[in-house]
Amino acid sequence: MSHTSETILKVNHAGEYGAIQIYRAQIAVARLMGWPCAVELQHMQAHEREHFAIFDALAKARTSRTCHAPWLWAAGGYALGFVTALFGEKGIWSCTIAVERNVFTHLEDQLDWTAQHDRELHAAVQAIIEDEAAHRDEATAHRGAPRVIDGVLEALVGRTTKFAIWLSHRL
Ligand SMILES: [Fe+2]
Ligand SMILES: [Fe+2]
Repeated sequence: MSHTSETILKVNHAGEYGAIQIYRAQIAVARLMGWPCAVELQHMQAHEREHFAIFDALAKARTSRTCHAPWLWAAGGYALGFVTALFGEKGIWSCTIAVERNVFTHLEDQLDWTAQHDRELHAAVQAIIEDEAAHRDEATAHRGAPRVIDGVLEALVGRTTKFAIWLSHRL
């Protein structure tokens, strides 16, 4: 994929915002149901808030344009988190696995280009990529053996995440 600093910043900024909302919905359902995963989800959400702050600060410092439709990531992220949480704790972790796997691949793709063209942005991506890999791996460990529905959820959420990334390049 061809890159520009402004686009990378815009897409990552929107993505982290969406991630916060996914976790927000999952935490709300998990608390309501008394599921133990709420604690772990709060940890992960705290990371997403830090990630968002990194890209937000960078965008402000550069007066770089952010996504035109933050409400879309808020609503879409919340809906994704809520719907997958209806399938229980394993549903939550299936969503996390699919989202974080795609986010990791997406960030990995940015590392080479930013290393050559934008050291500051490279450092920002480098600072968060290990967290996303850890979220993916922890979610995989927490879910354990997947049910049939978890495979379906993972595939659907994976497609949704890819679509959201594609869309955020264009908004
Ligand atoms: Fe993140
Ligand atoms: Fe994450």
